[in-house]
Amino acid sequence: MVAGVLSLGLGCASSKSSPASNESANPSTGKARAKAVAVLSPAPNGKVKGQVTFQEETEGVRVTANVEGLTPGKHGFHIHEKGDCSAPDFTSAGGHFNPTNSKHGSPTDPEHHAGDFGNLEANEQGVARFERVFTWLSFKGTNSILGKGVIVHEKTDDFSQPTGNAGGRLACGVIQSTP
Ligand code: CU
Ligand code: ZN
Repeated sequence: MVAGVLSLGLGCASSKSSPASNESANPSTGKARAKAVAVLSPAPNGKVKGQVTFQEETEGVRVTANVEGLTPGKHGFHIHEKGDCSAPDFTSAGGHFNPTNSKHGSPTDPEHHAGDFGNLEANEQGVARFERVFTWLSFKGTNSILGKGVIVHEKTDDFSQPTGNAGGRLACGVIQSTP
């Protein structure tokens, strides 16, 4: 009996030792996380401006926005499919960033565009701050945010179809990688 238990233990130990070395090569240790920024510029005659930063985290991408020059209240806030702010009304940025061909929605809805961030909410001074981690965003692959546009809208995104009825585009920026 005793001999049998001993040999079982030895068998376990030897089978465990072989695959160990490759598993310990963890790429997350000490590796710099991706970062990007979009500087938001106003439309001609407008005054809405700000900055949005994107920081890679384990759970997704942390989005931090500081925007000023807004009217108090809610303003639709999205990633749009093209990083092109050349048109005066910013229609050059195209539609909402939607690599999964989903319907428009709130970021907390089961279905929404990848670029649906909901709303910024400006205080009485016209300043809005926003910070949230979005699990579905990425710095590479089909969900990559790099080179896409960021738009702040005139009105509230009411999450209706097809794009939330948020009105004109007040500020635009292109998401660019930063060191
Ligand atoms: Cu938008
Ligand atoms: Zn949308």
